[in-house]
Order: sequence, then structure tokens, then C-alpha cells
Amino acid sequence: MNTPSSVALIVLGTLAALWLLLRLKQRIELSRAKHRSLAGHARWSRRLAKLLPHYEFDDPEFFTADDAPRDIAQARRGAFARLADLFAQRFPRTAAASAEIERGVSDVQFTARYRVPFQFSGHVRRHLKAGNFLQSSSGATVTDLDGNPLYDLTGSYGVNVFGYDFYKGCIERGARLVADLGPVLGGYHPVLAYNVKRLREISGLDEVSFHMSGTEAVMQAVRLARYHTRRTHVVRFCGAYHGWWGDVQPGVGNPIAARETYTLADMSEASLRVLRRRRDIACVLINPLQAMHPNANAPSDSMLIDSGRAAHFDRAAYREWLMKVRDVCTARGIVLIFDEVFMGFRLAAGGAQEYFGVRADMVTYGKTLGGGLPVGVVCGRRDLMKRFREDRPADVCFARGTFNSHPYVMGAMHEFLVALESEEFRCKYAGLDTCWDRRAGDLNAQLGGAGVPLRVAHFSTVWSLIFTQPSRYNWMLQFYLRAEGLALSWVGTGRLIFRIDLPDDAFAEISKRIVAAAVAMHRDGWWWSAPEVTNQTIRRRVRSETLRALGLSRASGRSTHRASGREAPSSTS
Ligand SMILES: Cc1ncc(COP(=O)(O)O)c(C=O)c1O
Repeated sequence: MNTPSSVALIVLGTLAALWLLLRLKQRIELSRAKHRSLAGHARWSRRLAKLLPHYEFDDPEFFTADDAPRDIAQARRGAFARLADLFAQRFPRTAAASAEIERGVSDVQFTARYRVPFQFSGHVRRHLKAGNFLQSSSGATVTDLDGNPLYDLTGSYGVNVFGYDFYKGCIERGARLVADLGPVLGGYHPVLAYNVKRLREISGLDEVSFHMSGTEAVMQAVRLARYHTRRTHVVRFCGAYHGWWGDVQPGVGNPIAARETYTLADMSEASLRVLRRRRDIACVLINPLQAMHPNANAPSDSMLIDSGRAAHFDRAAYREWLMKVRDVCTARGIVLIFDEVFMGFRLAAGGAQEYFGVRADMVTYGKTLGGGLPVGVVCGRRDLMKRFREDRPADVCFARGTFNSHPYVMGAMHEFLVALESEEFRCKYAGLDTCWDRRAGDLNAQLGGAGVPLRVAHFSTVWSLIFTQPSRYNWMLQFYLRAEGLALSWVGTGRLIFRIDLPDDAFAEISKRIVAAAVAMHRDGWWWSAPEVTNQTIRRRVRSETLRALGLSRASGRSTHRASGREAPSSTS
């Protein structure tokens, strides 16, 4: 006979089983919404990164890591020596100044080390020394300490939308505007009122907060979303960069796990299902730059072990995706945050919201908006921006920052926003896509005509170089480009960033030099290929080198050097 207590037990047991089933279903849904790549599995990528052993190539393996025949290896060796000589003659002061600071500046050590795949890095650093000091900028060029003008393809991490001379003007005029107040903090300079007005118009949102960097703006937007929704988790899409704060950078690079971040596959129905079902999601972060390479990390030459890098921008498909995310966020009370720190003001005067025709609940801006000075901005709906609750005086959402609203930053931003409002600057956006599509098409035609295995992929003024034939040496191209007088950032050919109003003659010159660099690299044998060399065989070979370096296999049958812990003296390249 069933006693009341046994009935209660049965009911409890059934409820527990149902709860467990529901949890299991949600867990499976979450797993399905992860991208298959390592970038989609933050924890696994961090674990594997800790296991990956260091090994490196020196002569002769440096030139034969793809089993190229002897004559090709010879051609490469000769070309490498010529490049090293050319760098030594052309960049002596710049390289010496860089070498001098390297031991004292950890960022220089890091970027110098990660310009090329680690297997090749030591040899490159010992021999190809270009340095990273600059003395001036003008028009489309920057000039190093040896007086070499270089066409700037770094875009200053995306800041340079309108040319360096424009930002110099913003900084100068902005400084004059606020000079009487000077660096006083806490009180606001009156120029701030105009900035707020313009940012509200541009974003279509109610309130604005000022911060010192894009990273901080994202931190604040996420914090506010958590505060108002009373939910814990932030969704970022696989590969997307949102600054270097822990919660939005859950994979390699962050020493601890980000437990309240879901990294979901971009442009995926399975991810929409997760957004529809889970109740713990406070916000979704979108970095529109990912439209160019959904689910892939930002391309950099240090990851260029084969020719698998791909990029392609489809405006209509990405807009459709954004609209779907918009709908599900609205339905589920999830805060949709567009992180326009990079792309805002690069695509349209109204940013990515205007360009894609989709509205967010919050938008973060930064980089170029500071008129050349450091900044981060959050714009948001009034109900989301509020940092306190009327009925709970102690329950606040804290945000400060000594230098937020710094008068000099507000002054330069004022000048930037005044310019953006002018007819002259609004015209710069007219026909932008057509212009840059044509430029990419022309350059691709020239590269095709030159018979080199290189093409460009682009999203407006942000470009990536794509390699059309399997090779382990694509990263060498950055040094050929430098020899042609083109300045790249430390991610190399992964990202070329142009000012949107680059004159035709400057672009023509840059194109000519890119083609010349590729032809020289081709001639020097770095793109040697054989039918049996595929991206797959290259990756297999790298895997066996890795196992060998771990002492787990003899598969490669070649000598690779384990890290000794001490390195030969090196300099930045
Ligand atoms: C989309 C995006 N968000 C945030 C950041 C971080 O900005 P900052 O470097 O100013 O901290 C960046 C920087 O590249 C970015 O591209």
C-alpha cells in the first residue's frame, strides 16, 4: 500500500528525473551550438595550448620544412640572406632602437615573437630586423627612424579611418578648445554636451557613458546588461574579439576559465535555439567585423601554418543573421550589444547599425571616435544605462575610471564629430563599397595576371591576404611587403587596414608594390609546391613534429630543435 511518504518520494523522484532530463537537453543543445573548431571550444583550446611544446627550425630545416628539393632550398636561403642584408642596410637605426628597448618592454617581446609561426620565429628574429619605431606620418605614409617612408597598411589598429593628418588636426584643435580647463577631471568641459548630443543621434539610443578604451566600454555594457536582466551569462560568437577583458576572451590568452561566457557558433540556427531556450543569458555581443570570417579568430601570420585562411563578406547574409538575432533577443529579453569599437564609423556615418539596417539595445564605440586619442563609449537605452534602482538604494551598478571624459579626449572627439556631420565627410561614405570592391577586384586581377598564388578578400576597407596554393611559408610575404615599403601591423598579412578616403594614386602604388612583393616571393621559391603537398599534408606534418617535440613519436624523421630555455639575442622584426 502506498503511504503518503512513499507517494511524496515517487513525486520527488519523478520531478528530479524530469529536471535532470531538462538539464541534459539544455546541455546537448549548448554543445550543438558550439562551432566544431578549437576556437569554438574555449576550455579545450586553453588546455591544448598548455601542452603544445616549443620547437624551432634553424638552417637547414628552416628552408625545407615542406620537403622542398635542394635547388629550391638554395634559392630560399639566398633570398633570405639578401632580405637580411637589405633590412640591415635600410633599417639600421630603427632596428637598433627597437633592440635597445626590447628587454624592457614586454609588449615588444610579445609582438616580435608572434609575427610568424613559432617554429620559424627565432631564426627570423635573429636575421630579419626591421624594428618598430616611427618618427612621423604624413598623407598615406609613415616614416621610420632611418627616413624610409612606408605606405601605412596598419590603420593604427583600425583607428585611422580618415588619414593621420585629419587626426592631428582633431587633436590640435581639440586641445585648443579645452586648453583653459586643461587636464581637470571630475568636472566636465562644455564640449562634452555636443558629443553626447551627436552620439545619441548617431546611435539612436538614449544615454552615453565615456570610458578610456574599447575593452572598458564592453565591460561596462556587459555589466549593465547583467545588472538589469539579473542574469549571469554573456554570449559571444566564436572567433569574435571584444577586447582583452577575461569574460569576453575565454580561450587562449586568458589564464582562467570564463565560466559565465557561452561561445556559440556564428550564423547558426543551433545558436538561435540556445538563445531561445536558456534563461541565464543577459546579453549577446556582436562584432560586425566577424561578417568577414564568421567563426574564425582574427587572422594573423603567426597562425599561418598552411594556406587554409579564408575570408568572404556577404552583406545580405550577415544582415539576415543580425535580424534573426535581433528578433530572438527581443523575444527573450536579452540585451543585444553591437560592439562597433572597430567597425563603427568605418562602414557608415551611423556605424554598423546604419550599414546593416539593424538596431541594437546598446552599442560600444572606440578607436577612431576619440579623434586620435584613447576612448571607449557605451550608448544604450535609458532603462539599460541606469546604474541604480529607485527602490533599492544600495543595489547599484558601479562604473568609474579616473580618466573617463578627459577634457582633451572630449575636445578631439568634438572635432571628429563636427567633421563627421559635415557634407564633405558624409560624402566620403558615398559609394564606399563600390569603390573598395572595385579596388579589390583590380588588385586580384593583377595578382592573377602575375601568376602568383595570392588574392585579397575584403570587407570594405579591412582586407586579408588569402593564399591559393598550399604552403608553409606564406608568412614570409610580410617581409617582402616591408622590403617594398609597406608597413603592416604585427598580425602581418592577416589584416590590412586602409583609410576610407585613400586617394586613387596611393592605392595604385600600394597595389603595384603588393604585386611586386608577391612576384619576388614567388621567384625566390617560397611558394614551391608539388601535387602531394596539400593543406592536409602540411597539417599532418606539423602534428608529427609536435608529437616528436613532445617525445611521443619519431614519425617526422627530421630534426627539430627543442626549446633550450635560453635564446640567442634577438631583436624585433
Ligand atoms: C570589436 C572590438 N571591441 C573591443 C576592442 C578593444 O578596444 P581597446 O583596444 O580600445 O581596448 C577592440 C580592439 O581591437 C575591438 O576590435
